[in-house]
Amino acid sequence: MNLIRSTRTFSLLALLIISLNQFGWAQTPLVASTLAPAPHQAPGDSEPWWMHALIYEIYPRSFQDSNGDGIGDLKGITDRLDYLQSLGVNAIWLSPIYPSPQVDFGYDISDYENVDPQYGTLADFDQLVAEAKKRNIRIIMDMVMNHTSDKHPWFIESKSSRTNPKRDWYVWRDGKGPGIPPNNWQSVFGHSAWKFDSTTNQWYYHKFYAEQPDLNWRNPEVEKAMFDAVRFWLDRGVAGFRLDAIPTLFEDPQLRDAKETGGTNAYGDPILDDTYTDNLPEVHDVMRRLRKVVASYPGDRVLIGETYLPNVQELDKWYGGSRHDELNLPMDMQIGFTNKLDAGLFRQRIEDVETKVHGNQPLVVFDNHDNARSWNRYGDGAHDAAIARVIATMLFTTRATAMMYYGQEIGMVTITPARKEDVKDPIGVIGWPNEKGRDGERTPMQWDASRNAGFSTAAVTWLPVAPDYKTVNVKVEEANPDSLLNWYKNLIELRRTNPALRDGALTMLDPTNPNVLSYVRKGAAGTASVVVSLNFTAQPQTVSLDLAGTGVTADNVKTLMTDDPSLQSATGLSHIVLPPFASWVASVQ
Ligand code: GLC
Ligand code: CA
Repeated sequence: MNLIRSTRTFSLLALLIISLNQFGWAQTPLVASTLAPAPHQAPGDSEPWWMHALIYEIYPRSFQDSNGDGIGDLKGITDRLDYLQSLGVNAIWLSPIYPSPQVDFGYDISDYENVDPQYGTLADFDQLVAEAKKRNIRIIMDMVMNHTSDKHPWFIESKSSRTNPKRDWYVWRDGKGPGIPPNNWQSVFGHSAWKFDSTTNQWYYHKFYAEQPDLNWRNPEVEKAMFDAVRFWLDRGVAGFRLDAIPTLFEDPQLRDAKETGGTNAYGDPILDDTYTDNLPEVHDVMRRLRKVVASYPGDRVLIGETYLPNVQELDKWYGGSRHDELNLPMDMQIGFTNKLDAGLFRQRIEDVETKVHGNQPLVVFDNHDNARSWNRYGDGAHDAAIARVIATMLFTTRATAMMYYGQEIGMVTITPARKEDVKDPIGVIGWPNEKGRDGERTPMQWDASRNAGFSTAAVTWLPVAPDYKTVNVKVEEANPDSLLNWYKNLIELRRTNPALRDGALTMLDPTNPNVLSYVRKGAAGTASVVVSLNFTAQPQTVSLDLAGTGVTADNVKTLMTDDPSLQSATGLSHIVLPPFASWVASVQ
């Protein structure tokens, strides 16, 4: 396998503060449970569907091409819904499908209320929603509120003159002098965040590419227009939104220069403190108003946030803390992007989100379209499949809502471009060779061993199919009981059907062990609990798990899932020998 290893982690925060090289709606039937409702539910409310959901991110360009142009599309996704249902997916998060010049592959939107012809039509979208609904799968849209495309009619008007009514919809300023931008702020994607426009002799702010001008959220008309777009999709039956780059909505109105914190990033720019450009308190007022819009629709529509944050205290703010009135599921990036298999660190971060977010529901994610795949970020080159099972087991046996990225379930790897001229993601061109862009985690889904892995009949696909597709694909793995795909399927089914895994409180076991992560999920009185033990090292580890103080007795131990035959017959908790990177999930009663 031609594996190119990458430790790159893409995050708004990481890109700014660290150098890259360092680095039915048939919801499943409700199980009778005597546990108290989660604190953010009114008594008597049934659990919202997303509490125990598996949300699966599809990058539409790369999932399934239905018309042979080498680019995935909506009909392709509809054709693959049976697969998603068989995996146990409850909702699809669709990366942007709106009309777009595709500079940032859809994150530069030129019309919020339509579908890009590359991906299909609004009728294709409606059909996807309807067909998904038949399979109890919901559709979640990606909503990009920080910026539009520079080809959006709003921006075209805005830049036409200083007196245009839409001028103030974007962030325009005079420079400090001829050729000197208003301040030192930088784009997440490299170099100055300001672009000069010679028609009006002013600069506009772009947190991301210059083709993605930032909207001015201090202008109420912007909020109104964006909330209208939100209603457009809610009216069409979508189950909610994943809010793109949401901490970046507001900037310091005085445009104060950012402090340099030392060092340079992958683009060779000085690293800046982000106090004036990220997480300004005003964003939380917008979130509360947006929550009201979404909550006015029936059926537990959900707000998910792309929230790369430095710690759990910041994460809690995005739920609205004890008020529970902002996002339902801001992503916990602390857990999934730990980027090293350190049992102590995972234990700490899982406990953080269990205990420090006012009872709100955690959302854990290991893979997405912006980061090297978890297979590569956590793999050691010798035990990659076992490590992938450890990651999967954490994802589905803690209490969190689970989010996955297409191909994660079959062990797709990151295929970083080897030559600059092959790079499609512009940051890979801007940052080459330190930053090679995000193409590596966006290669086509591997369905079978046929040409282009069954993704497309085109002569050339928009990104090349990974070379390992003949052995790493859905068809081969469906037929192999020991495949990663079947490990995922079994875990997903276990979580769906096991009351303790669905709702049980989580308590860490053996909490000072630096090598093995163990915890118990407590079942309701008189029912089974579940113990999980994961070896984070390449050496065998022996653990003794003491349930004293957890309220669980360990009389009847029965293995539910393991990748080690010797653990199949385990009967007690006092002497468990875990081979390198073994996963063990057992029922205790
Ligand atoms: C988010 C998206 C990323 C995009 C950026 C700008 O981080 O996940 O893909 O490039 O926002 O919209
Ligand atoms: Ca196509």
